[in-house]
Amino acid sequence: MLRYWTAGESHGKALVALVDGFPAGVAVDPALINAELKRRQGGYGRGGRQRIESDEVDIKSGIWQGKTLGSPIVLEIANRDYKLERLGDLDRPRPGHGDLSGSVKYLSGIRGVLERASARETAARVAAGALAKQLLAEFGIQAFGYVVELGGMRLEPLPGTLEEQRARRDASSVYSLNPSLDGQVQALIDQCGREGDTLGGIIEVRVEGLPFGLGSHTQWDRKLDGRLAQAVMSIQAIKGVEIGLGFEAARRRGSQVHDPIQYDPAQRDTPSLGYVRPTNHAGGLEAGMTNGQPLVLRAAKKPISTLRKPLESINLQTKQPEPAAYERSDVCAVPAASVIVENVVAFEVAAALVDKFGGDSLVEMKSRFEAFLALARSR
Ligand SMILES: Cc1cc2nc3c(=O)[nH]c(=O)nc-3n(C[C@H](O)[C@H](O)[C@H](O)COP(=O)(O)O)c2cc1C
Repeated sequence: MLRYWTAGESHGKALVALVDGFPAGVAVDPALINAELKRRQGGYGRGGRQRIESDEVDIKSGIWQGKTLGSPIVLEIANRDYKLERLGDLDRPRPGHGDLSGSVKYLSGIRGVLERASARETAARVAAGALAKQLLAEFGIQAFGYVVELGGMRLEPLPGTLEEQRARRDASSVYSLNPSLDGQVQALIDQCGREGDTLGGIIEVRVEGLPFGLGSHTQWDRKLDGRLAQAVMSIQAIKGVEIGLGFEAARRRGSQVHDPIQYDPAQRDTPSLGYVRPTNHAGGLEAGMTNGQPLVLRAAKKPISTLRKPLESINLQTKQPEPAAYERSDVCAVPAASVIVENVVAFEVAAALVDKFGGDSLVEMKSRFEAFLALARSR
């Protein structure tokens, strides 16, 4: 079973991911993890903190001579902005953050809650996902995330091969697949920032090269759609997850939703095994299992809760109305969230891959993977 936990506070000494159940024999390149950490810190609309931090992973355990050992892997990202011990508490909870509910639940101040609720924690999740991607690459599986809507503005993805789209996304200041709209989006973010407000958006992640049969219909907690939804919903500020058509499926007739099944022997050696679908409204999952099509997932990110022009709140000491607290904050973190969702999805897919073809070593996984494909093709 491949899984991970994270630890660390926003202004604490470090963020840590402990990855357990990672197969032995996978070559790990820390530069690939650092590249994802850097992307998470970028994107137009982020504030001062990203200029202070320059995240780099320090692999503390689980690797020998560049390859995984099969033992737990600890990934650590130091906080260059460490100052937790010097920070005071807040007394005016921010609507939309964990300040009020967390301080009531833990009978504590707000600081202890916001430090862990903060999305700084996602640096550890991105590191874990970027490690998992190195396992996926061994099987020709790639996860790819981008922004499709920001502040209500649709950023229609331009078509192209995965490589063309990757180049397009990496050229876009908001990580969309339509960089010609960057100027308009930046103007929207700037305007919103001047007004002391914040913006949300929608992210799409595609996973290509997936074999049939990751996840299982046999038990609720083994369904891959359910696992993905839980993992993605748990990302800070994500308020909705859709797979394939998602909510739109509810508005259409069945004949306009379900993907017909055809067979094309020329495609027998592709992940579809020749079972071609003219549409992919299911987003690559049926009954909680991958169906040989690309996985397509969307996530809705709400606008950041900390507003420079704060909403109404209550001073917890006096119980009198006062504006909510303001701490240095971003205007828009949707591009960064696209990196987080991409890596969180990659980790869940890798976990499902280990479940199916697991898991002590890469060599064993690969031989089971090939054996399964041969059996499935010969049916
Ligand atoms: C990449 C990213 C950056 C974020 N930056 C901020 C921020 O600067 N200020 C803020 O108030 N919330 C920020 N958030 C959102 C909060 O962390 C989140 O709203 C809060 O933890 C409450 O959790 P919930 O929105 O999931 O209910 C960010 C979220 C993400 C994904």
